[in-house]
Amino acid sequence: MTVQLRPAQAMQAPVFLATYAKQVELSVQQVMAERQHVVEPRLWDAMSYALLAGGKRVRPALVLACFKACGGTDESLAMPAAVSIECMHTYSLIHDDLPCMDDDDLRRGNPTCHKKFDEATAVLAADALQTLSFELLTDMGASADTSLTLLRRLAIASGAQGMVGGQMMDMRAEAAGVHSVLEVERIHLHKTGALIRYSCEAGALLAGASEKELHACSRYGEAVGLLFQIADDILDATATSEDLGKSAGKDEAQNKATYVSIEGLQRARELAENLRSIARKACDDLPHQGEDLHALADYILERGQ
Ligand code: IPE
Ligand code: IPE
Ligand code: MG
Ligand code: MG
Ligand code: MG
Repeated sequence: MTVQLRPAQAMQAPVFLATYAKQVELSVQQVMAERQHVVEPRLWDAMSYALLAGGKRVRPALVLACFKACGGTDESLAMPAAVSIECMHTYSLIHDDLPCMDDDDLRRGNPTCHKKFDEATAVLAADALQTLSFELLTDMGASADTSLTLLRRLAIASGAQGMVGGQMMDMRAEAAGVHSVLEVERIHLHKTGALIRYSCEAGALLAGASEKELHACSRYGEAVGLLFQIADDILDATATSEDLGKSAGKDEAQNKATYVSIEGLQRARELAENLRSIARKACDDLPHQGEDLHALADYILERGQ
């Protein structure tokens, strides 16, 4: 089978993703506006700068699409969790860009938070976004049981056993080198996969999914989580900084452990295609609108940024 290294033309975001992104944007603006007069102004500016700078809003879309795929109808019930995961993700990006981590100057097409403000402000804005993501989960229309389940799952997915643990593995691999694809898979499943899988599970839980549906969303989320980071690795090696809105070619320059560095571009793309098939198969167990989840998996693989 011949597999293209990169699609001749990157896939446009599906229309429903753009619609979700607009709704999320409005909710994020509202969340920040409500806090404008009770948060220290420079901290508020830095939080808003990072959060409202754009971004594809893929994680909120996964919350909303899984909510619908499990029979959820009133999107306003899932919106606080969608905004919450975007706050958590944005915090992870601010820290990821710091000089002591990936040392990046460009994010979402703008100077990184520590470049626009200063390092201390960026660290604190990220800390505040992290705690805001938990706060938002305590103020949903969901039952206390569901809220507590989401809080616990988000804490685990974002902390030492999830994203933060993965970032530590990533930093250590940069220094020590990584030689097996299994090691890279472990890093990716933690640093990126955990928050993406959680997003899918959160949508399912808020819709009152059955065990079978929750498990399907979980399997879908694990596959697209790994797929997301492989696609990010491929884009880092093949796209321009202008297209990405962040610095391209950094992984090789920083000796990062990626699917591209270990397996090469062709094989990385084949593995990503396999993960897309696994993700699509998981949707067979979902009762409604699995096609949005198919389209999201396609977009995650074929996106141009
Ligand atoms: C970038 O995430 C960081 C990774 C986990 C690869 P996104 O590609 O979702 O970044 P934004 O939110 O669209 O800026
Ligand atoms: C970042 O992975 C994963 C996070 C937890 C933020 P990368 O370091 O590859 O993300 P980019 O390429 O800077 O967006
Ligand atoms: Mg990184
Ligand atoms: Mg980075
Ligand atoms: Mg990257």
